[in-house]
Amino acid sequence: MTFGDELARIRDAGLLRVLRESGVDRWVTVEGRRALLLCSNNYLGLATHPALADAADRAARTYGVGAGASRLISGSLPIHTELEARLAALKHTDAALLFPSGYHANIGAITALVGRGDAVFSDALNHASIIDGCRLSGAAVHVYPHRDVGALESALRDSNARRRLIVTDSIFSMDGDAAPLADICVVAERHDAMTMVDEAHATGVFGPSGAGLVEALGLHGRVTAQMGTLGKALGCAGAFVAGTRELVDLLVNRARSFIYTTALPPPVIGAVIAALDLVEREPERRERLLRMSADLRHRLGTLGYDVGEGDGPIVPIIIGDTAKAIGMSRELLKRGVYVSGFGFPVVPQGHARLRCQISAAHTREHLDKAISAIVDVANG
Ligand SMILES: Cc1ncc(COP(=O)(O)O)c(C=O)c1O
Repeated sequence: MTFGDELARIRDAGLLRVLRESGVDRWVTVEGRRALLLCSNNYLGLATHPALADAADRAARTYGVGAGASRLISGSLPIHTELEARLAALKHTDAALLFPSGYHANIGAITALVGRGDAVFSDALNHASIIDGCRLSGAAVHVYPHRDVGALESALRDSNARRRLIVTDSIFSMDGDAAPLADICVVAERHDAMTMVDEAHATGVFGPSGAGLVEALGLHGRVTAQMGTLGKALGCAGAFVAGTRELVDLLVNRARSFIYTTALPPPVIGAVIAALDLVEREPERRERLLRMSADLRHRLGTLGYDVGEGDGPIVPIIIGDTAKAIGMSRELLKRGVYVSGFGFPVVPQGHARLRCQISAAHTREHLDKAISAIVDVANG
Protein backbone atom coordinates (compact mmCIF):
# COMPACT_ATOMS: atom_id res chain seq x y z
CA MET A 1 0.00 0.00 0.00
CA THR A 2 1.44 3.40 -0.98
CA PHE A 3 1.35 6.44 1.33
CA GLY A 4 -1.34 7.83 -0.96
CA ASP A 5 -3.45 4.67 -0.60
CA GLU A 6 -3.13 4.80 3.14
CA LEU A 7 -4.08 8.48 3.25
CA ALA A 8 -7.07 7.76 1.01
CA ARG A 9 -8.22 5.09 3.44
CA ILE A 10 -7.95 7.51 6.36
CA ARG A 11 -9.84 10.15 4.32
CA ASP A 12 -12.54 7.66 3.28
CA ALA A 13 -13.10 6.73 6.91
CA GLY A 14 -13.63 10.44 7.66
CA LEU A 15 -10.59 10.43 9.96
CA LEU A 16 -8.08 12.54 8.02
CA ARG A 17 -6.45 15.13 10.23
CA VAL A 18 -4.79 18.28 8.92
CA LEU A 19 -2.80 21.05 10.54
CA ARG A 20 -4.44 24.46 11.03
CA GLU A 21 -2.53 27.59 11.95
CA SER A 22 -3.87 29.19 15.13
CA GLY A 23 -2.42 31.15 18.06
CA VAL A 24 -2.17 31.09 21.86
CA ASP A 25 -3.86 34.31 22.97
CA ARG A 26 -7.61 34.63 23.61
CA TRP A 27 -8.33 35.74 20.04
CA VAL A 28 -6.72 33.87 17.17
CA THR A 29 -7.01 33.79 13.41
CA VAL A 30 -7.93 30.35 12.05
CA GLU A 31 -8.53 29.78 8.35
CA GLY A 32 -8.80 33.52 7.88
CA ARG A 33 -11.42 33.90 10.64
CA ARG A 34 -10.96 35.78 13.90
CA ALA A 35 -12.11 33.44 16.64
CA LEU A 36 -12.27 33.16 20.41
CA LEU A 37 -9.81 30.43 21.42
CA LEU A 38 -11.45 27.75 23.56
CA CYS A 39 -9.15 24.81 22.86
CA SER A 40 -5.80 25.73 24.36
CA ASN A 41 -4.06 24.27 27.41
CA ASN A 42 -2.72 27.76 28.23
CA TYR A 43 -4.96 27.67 31.30
CA LEU A 44 -3.43 30.55 33.23
CA GLY A 45 -2.83 32.76 30.21
CA LEU A 46 0.93 32.67 30.86
CA ALA A 47 2.16 31.72 27.36
CA THR A 48 2.06 35.36 26.29
CA HIS A 49 3.06 36.92 29.62
CA PRO A 50 5.90 39.47 29.21
CA ALA A 51 7.66 38.21 32.39
CA LEU A 52 8.10 34.81 30.72
CA ALA A 53 9.39 36.36 27.49
CA ASP A 54 11.88 38.51 29.46
CA ALA A 55 13.06 35.50 31.47
CA ALA A 56 13.48 33.47 28.27
CA ASP A 57 15.55 36.25 26.77
CA ARG A 58 17.78 36.54 29.87
CA ALA A 59 18.33 32.78 30.00
CA ALA A 60 19.22 32.66 26.29
CA ARG A 61 21.81 35.41 26.79
CA THR A 62 23.25 33.80 29.93
CA TYR A 63 23.32 30.14 28.88
CA GLY A 64 22.72 30.05 25.13
CA VAL A 65 19.66 29.30 23.07
CA GLY A 66 20.19 25.55 23.12
CA ALA A 67 21.67 23.29 25.79
CA GLY A 68 23.99 21.70 23.24
CA ALA A 69 23.82 18.12 24.51
CA SER A 70 21.86 15.62 26.53
CA ARG A 71 21.80 16.05 30.30
CA LEU A 72 24.23 13.18 30.91
CA ILE A 73 26.82 14.61 28.49
CA SER A 74 27.35 18.39 28.80
CA GLY A 75 23.73 19.63 28.60
CA SER A 76 23.04 19.78 32.35
CA LEU A 77 23.16 23.51 33.18
CA PRO A 78 22.76 25.30 36.52
CA ILE A 79 19.35 26.58 35.35
CA HIS A 80 18.10 22.97 34.94
CA THR A 81 19.16 22.18 38.50
CA GLU A 82 17.49 25.36 39.76
CA LEU A 83 14.20 24.49 38.06
CA GLU A 84 14.30 20.88 39.27
CA ALA A 85 14.73 22.12 42.84
CA ARG A 86 11.76 24.50 42.39
CA LEU A 87 9.59 21.70 40.99
CA ALA A 88 10.51 19.31 43.80
CA ALA A 89 9.60 22.01 46.35
CA LEU A 90 6.30 22.67 44.56
CA LYS A 91 5.47 18.96 44.57
CA HIS A 92 6.62 18.43 48.19
CA THR A 93 9.11 15.76 47.06
CA ASP A 94 12.87 15.25 47.49
CA ALA A 95 13.69 15.60 43.82
CA ALA A 96 12.38 16.15 40.30
CA LEU A 97 13.71 15.43 36.83
CA LEU A 98 12.99 17.38 33.64
CA PHE A 99 11.96 15.70 30.40
CA PRO A 100 11.56 17.34 26.97
CA SER A 101 7.78 16.75 26.99
CA GLY A 102 4.99 14.99 28.83
CA TYR A 103 5.11 12.29 26.21
CA HIS A 104 8.80 11.68 26.96
CA ALA A 105 8.15 11.78 30.72
CA ASN A 106 5.41 9.16 30.60
CA ILE A 107 7.15 6.70 28.33
CA GLY A 108 10.46 7.24 30.16
CA ALA A 109 9.11 6.83 33.68
CA ILE A 110 6.83 3.87 32.99
CA THR A 111 9.51 1.91 31.12
CA ALA A 112 12.01 2.69 33.91
CA LEU A 113 9.66 1.52 36.66
CA VAL A 114 8.32 -1.70 35.13
CA GLY A 115 9.50 -4.24 32.56
CA ARG A 116 9.12 -7.88 31.65
CA GLY A 117 7.78 -9.91 34.59
CA ASP A 118 6.08 -6.83 36.06
CA ALA A 119 2.53 -5.54 35.70
CA VAL A 120 1.06 -2.12 35.03
CA PHE A 121 -2.55 -1.16 35.83
CA SER A 122 -3.84 1.66 33.65
CA ASP A 123 -7.18 3.55 33.60
CA ALA A 124 -9.08 2.97 30.33
CA LEU A 125 -9.12 6.70 29.56
CA ASN A 126 -5.44 7.44 30.26
CA HIS A 127 -3.56 9.65 27.83
CA ALA A 128 -1.96 8.12 24.74
CA SER A 129 1.54 8.72 26.12
CA ILE A 130 0.71 6.52 29.13
CA ILE A 131 -0.74 3.84 26.85
CA ASP A 132 2.45 3.93 24.75
CA GLY A 133 4.64 3.80 27.87
CA CYS A 134 2.74 0.75 29.11
CA ARG A 135 3.10 -1.01 25.74
CA LEU A 136 6.78 -0.16 25.46
CA SER A 137 7.58 -1.36 28.97
CA GLY A 138 7.10 -5.06 28.21
CA ALA A 139 5.13 -5.41 31.47
CA ALA A 140 1.74 -7.15 31.48
CA VAL A 141 -0.82 -4.38 30.91
CA HIS A 142 -4.14 -4.46 32.81
CA VAL A 143 -6.55 -1.77 31.65
CA TYR A 144 -9.24 -1.16 34.27
CA PRO A 145 -12.58 0.55 33.53
CA HIS A 146 -12.49 4.31 33.91
CA ARG A 147 -12.16 5.36 37.58
CA ASP A 148 -13.25 1.89 38.75
CA VAL A 149 -11.21 1.29 41.89
CA GLY A 150 -13.06 -1.97 42.62
CA ALA A 151 -11.97 -3.41 39.27
CA LEU A 152 -8.45 -2.10 39.85
CA GLU A 153 -8.29 -3.83 43.22
CA SER A 154 -9.48 -7.16 41.86
CA ALA A 155 -6.90 -6.99 39.05
CA LEU A 156 -4.20 -6.27 41.65
CA ARG A 157 -5.40 -9.15 43.78
CA ASP A 158 -5.15 -11.52 40.81
CA SER A 159 -1.65 -10.44 39.86
CA ASN A 160 1.47 -12.07 41.22
CA ALA A 161 3.84 -9.89 39.20
CA ARG A 162 7.17 -8.92 40.75
CA ARG A 163 6.60 -5.14 40.59
CA ARG A 164 3.17 -3.56 40.18
CA LEU A 165 2.54 0.00 38.99
CA ILE A 166 -0.82 1.80 38.93
CA VAL A 167 -0.81 4.69 36.49
CA THR A 168 -3.51 7.30 36.01
CA ASP A 169 -4.15 10.80 34.73
CA SER A 170 -5.20 13.01 37.67
CA ILE A 171 -7.49 15.16 35.48
CA PHE A 172 -8.48 13.20 32.37
CA SER A 173 -7.64 15.07 29.23
CA MET A 174 -10.79 14.34 27.24
CA ASP A 175 -13.39 14.29 30.04
CA GLY A 176 -11.94 16.78 32.51
CA ASP A 177 -12.96 14.54 35.41
CA ALA A 178 -10.69 13.58 38.29
CA ALA A 179 -9.22 10.18 39.12
CA PRO A 180 -10.23 8.78 42.55
CA LEU A 181 -6.68 9.35 43.77
CA ALA A 182 -7.32 8.89 47.50
CA ASP A 183 -8.93 5.48 46.92
CA ILE A 184 -6.19 4.51 44.47
CA CYS A 185 -3.56 5.27 47.13
CA VAL A 186 -5.39 3.11 49.67
CA VAL A 187 -5.62 0.19 47.24
CA ALA A 188 -1.97 0.61 46.20
CA GLU A 189 -0.85 0.55 49.82
CA ARG A 190 -2.99 -2.51 50.55
CA HIS A 191 -1.47 -4.42 47.63
CA ASP A 192 2.05 -3.02 47.83
CA ALA A 193 1.87 -1.41 44.39
CA MET A 194 3.59 1.72 43.12
CA THR A 195 1.54 4.69 41.88
CA MET A 196 2.24 7.16 39.10
CA VAL A 197 -0.03 10.18 38.59
CA ASP A 198 -0.01 12.31 35.43
CA GLU A 199 -0.82 15.86 36.51
CA ALA A 200 -0.56 17.36 32.99
CA HIS A 201 -3.88 19.18 33.32
CA ALA A 202 -3.71 19.81 37.07
CA THR A 203 -0.24 21.33 37.53
CA GLY A 204 -0.64 25.08 38.13
CA VAL A 205 -4.41 24.61 38.43
CA PHE A 206 -5.29 22.67 41.60
CA GLY A 207 -3.96 22.68 45.15
CA PRO A 208 -3.11 25.44 47.64
CA SER A 209 0.19 26.17 45.88
CA GLY A 210 -0.90 25.07 42.40
CA ALA A 211 1.03 21.79 42.57
CA GLY A 212 -1.90 19.70 41.33
CA LEU A 213 -4.58 17.32 42.51
CA VAL A 214 -2.19 15.23 44.62
CA GLU A 215 -1.48 18.35 46.67
CA ALA A 216 -5.15 19.39 46.72
CA LEU A 217 -6.04 16.01 48.24
CA GLY A 218 -3.07 15.97 50.63
CA LEU A 219 -1.68 12.79 49.05
CA HIS A 220 1.94 13.86 48.58
CA GLY A 221 4.22 11.28 50.13
CA ARG A 222 1.80 8.52 49.10
CA VAL A 223 2.36 8.69 45.33
CA THR A 224 5.51 7.07 43.92
CA ALA A 225 5.90 9.30 40.86
CA GLN A 226 4.17 12.61 40.15
CA MET A 227 4.42 13.68 36.55
CA GLY A 228 3.60 17.24 35.51
CA THR A 229 3.84 19.20 32.29
CA LEU A 230 5.26 22.67 31.67
CA GLY A 231 3.51 23.30 28.36
CA LYS A 232 -0.04 23.66 29.63
CA ALA A 233 -0.92 25.90 32.62
CA LEU A 234 2.73 26.97 32.91
CA GLY A 235 2.65 28.23 29.33
CA CYS A 236 6.03 26.90 28.14
CA ALA A 237 7.12 23.37 27.11
CA GLY A 238 8.56 20.27 28.74
CA ALA A 239 7.63 18.09 31.68
CA PHE A 240 8.99 16.55 34.85
CA VAL A 241 8.67 13.60 37.18
CA ALA A 242 8.90 14.26 40.93
CA GLY A 243 9.47 11.76 43.71
CA THR A 244 12.17 10.46 46.02
CA ARG A 245 15.87 11.04 45.29
CA GLU A 246 16.21 7.33 44.55
CA LEU A 247 13.34 7.41 42.05
CA VAL A 248 14.93 10.34 40.22
CA ASP A 249 18.38 8.69 40.26
CA LEU A 250 16.81 5.58 38.79
CA LEU A 251 15.16 7.63 36.02
CA VAL A 252 18.50 9.28 35.23
CA ASN A 253 19.92 5.79 34.71
CA ARG A 254 16.98 3.99 33.14
CA ALA A 255 14.61 6.41 31.38
CA ARG A 256 15.73 6.23 27.77
CA SER A 257 13.58 9.21 26.73
CA PHE A 258 15.58 11.27 29.26
CA ILE A 259 19.00 9.81 28.50
CA TYR A 260 19.02 9.87 24.72
CA THR A 261 17.74 13.36 23.97
CA THR A 262 19.00 16.94 24.09
CA ALA A 263 18.31 18.84 27.33
CA LEU A 264 15.46 21.38 27.35
CA PRO A 265 16.65 24.75 25.99
CA PRO A 266 17.63 27.42 28.57
CA PRO A 267 15.04 30.01 27.38
CA VAL A 268 12.26 27.50 28.09
CA ILE A 269 13.70 26.78 31.52
CA GLY A 270 14.02 30.50 32.33
CA ALA A 271 10.42 31.06 31.26
CA VAL A 272 9.15 28.15 33.38
CA ILE A 273 10.89 29.60 36.45
CA ALA A 274 9.15 32.93 35.77
CA ALA A 275 5.83 31.05 35.37
CA LEU A 276 6.35 29.33 38.73
CA ASP A 277 6.97 32.75 40.32
CA LEU A 278 3.59 33.89 38.96
CA VAL A 279 1.82 30.71 40.11
CA GLU A 280 3.24 31.39 43.59
CA ARG A 281 2.52 35.14 43.65
CA GLU A 282 -0.83 35.20 41.86
CA PRO A 283 -3.07 32.41 43.19
CA GLU A 284 -5.99 34.51 41.93
CA ARG A 285 -5.22 33.24 38.41
CA ARG A 286 -6.08 29.64 39.26
CA GLU A 287 -8.98 30.70 41.51
CA ARG A 288 -10.46 32.69 38.64
CA LEU A 289 -9.84 29.82 36.20
CA LEU A 290 -11.73 27.36 38.39
CA ARG A 291 -14.57 29.86 38.94
CA MET A 292 -14.93 30.52 35.21
CA SER A 293 -14.79 26.78 34.41
CA ALA A 294 -17.46 25.99 37.01
CA ASP A 295 -19.59 28.80 35.60
CA LEU A 296 -19.34 27.48 32.02
CA ARG A 297 -20.03 23.91 33.15
CA HIS A 298 -23.02 25.00 35.22
CA ARG A 299 -24.53 27.17 32.47
CA LEU A 300 -24.14 24.49 29.79
CA GLY A 301 -25.53 21.84 32.16
CA THR A 302 -28.54 24.03 32.94
CA LEU A 303 -29.18 24.32 29.21
CA GLY A 304 -29.37 20.52 29.05
CA TYR A 305 -25.95 19.65 27.62
CA ASP A 306 -24.06 16.61 28.90
CA VAL A 307 -20.87 18.14 30.34
CA GLY A 308 -19.69 15.12 32.32
CA GLU A 309 -18.48 15.21 35.91
CA GLY A 310 -15.39 17.33 35.81
CA ASP A 311 -14.43 20.30 37.93
CA GLY A 312 -11.44 21.82 36.16
CA PRO A 313 -10.78 23.83 33.02
CA ILE A 314 -11.68 21.02 30.59
CA VAL A 315 -15.41 21.14 29.84
CA PRO A 316 -16.58 18.50 27.36
CA ILE A 317 -19.95 18.64 25.64
CA ILE A 318 -20.80 15.06 24.75
CA ILE A 319 -22.39 14.87 21.32
CA GLY A 320 -22.12 11.13 20.55
CA ASP A 321 -21.66 10.95 16.80
CA THR A 322 -18.18 11.78 15.44
CA ALA A 323 -19.33 13.47 12.22
CA LYS A 324 -21.80 15.60 14.19
CA ALA A 325 -19.18 16.73 16.73
CA ILE A 326 -16.65 17.59 14.02
CA GLY A 327 -19.37 19.38 12.00
CA MET A 328 -20.39 21.42 15.07
CA SER A 329 -16.79 22.41 15.65
CA ARG A 330 -16.62 23.68 12.04
CA GLU A 331 -19.86 25.62 12.45
CA LEU A 332 -18.63 27.18 15.68
CA LEU A 333 -15.53 28.43 13.91
CA LYS A 334 -17.75 30.13 11.33
CA ARG A 335 -19.40 31.92 14.28
CA GLY A 336 -16.04 33.01 15.66
CA VAL A 337 -15.52 30.38 18.38
CA TYR A 338 -12.66 27.90 18.08
CA VAL A 339 -13.53 24.69 19.97
CA SER A 340 -12.15 21.35 18.88
CA GLY A 341 -14.33 18.36 18.14
CA PHE A 342 -13.05 14.88 18.98
CA GLY A 343 -14.35 11.55 17.79
CA PHE A 344 -13.28 7.96 17.53
CA PRO A 345 -10.46 6.83 17.84
CA VAL A 346 -9.35 9.68 20.15
CA VAL A 347 -12.39 9.01 22.37
CA PRO A 348 -14.47 5.80 22.56
CA GLN A 349 -17.00 5.10 19.80
CA GLY A 350 -20.29 6.94 20.46
CA HIS A 351 -18.68 9.47 22.83
CA ALA A 352 -17.65 12.15 20.33
CA ARG A 353 -17.57 15.58 21.83
CA LEU A 354 -16.72 19.22 21.69
CA ARG A 355 -14.03 19.99 24.24
CA CYS A 356 -14.00 23.51 25.67
CA GLN A 357 -10.92 24.62 27.54
CA ILE A 358 -11.06 27.73 29.66
CA SER A 359 -8.28 30.15 30.48
CA ALA A 360 -7.98 32.55 33.40
CA ALA A 361 -7.72 35.22 30.71
CA HIS A 362 -11.29 34.59 29.52
CA THR A 363 -14.01 36.94 30.71
CA ARG A 364 -17.71 36.40 31.38
CA GLU A 365 -18.41 38.10 28.03
CA HIS A 366 -16.23 35.50 26.29
CA LEU A 367 -18.23 32.71 27.90
CA ASP A 368 -21.49 34.42 26.90
CA LYS A 369 -20.31 34.51 23.29
CA ALA A 370 -19.23 30.85 23.39
CA ILE A 371 -22.49 29.66 24.95
CA SER A 372 -24.70 31.55 22.51
CA ALA A 373 -22.68 30.16 19.55
CA ILE A 374 -22.94 26.61 20.97
CA VAL A 375 -26.72 26.93 21.43
CA ASP A 376 -27.05 28.39 17.96
CA VAL A 377 -25.06 25.57 16.32
CA ALA A 378 -26.75 22.84 18.37
CA ASN A 379 -30.18 24.11 17.32
CA GLY A 380 -28.75 24.43 13.88
C1 LIG B 1 -2.78 13.76 30.35
C2 LIG B 1 -1.65 14.12 29.44
N1 LIG B 1 -0.44 13.56 29.66
C3 LIG B 1 0.61 13.86 28.87
C4 LIG B 1 0.49 14.74 27.83
C5 LIG B 1 1.69 15.00 26.99
O1 LIG B 1 2.29 16.20 27.37
P1 LIG B 1 3.19 17.00 26.33
O2 LIG B 1 2.27 17.78 25.45
O3 LIG B 1 4.07 17.85 27.17
O4 LIG B 1 3.96 15.97 25.55
C6 LIG B 1 -0.74 15.35 27.57
C7 LIG B 1 -0.99 16.32 26.49
O5 LIG B 1 -0.33 16.65 25.62
C8 LIG B 1 -1.84 15.02 28.39
O6 LIG B 1 -3.05 15.55 28.15
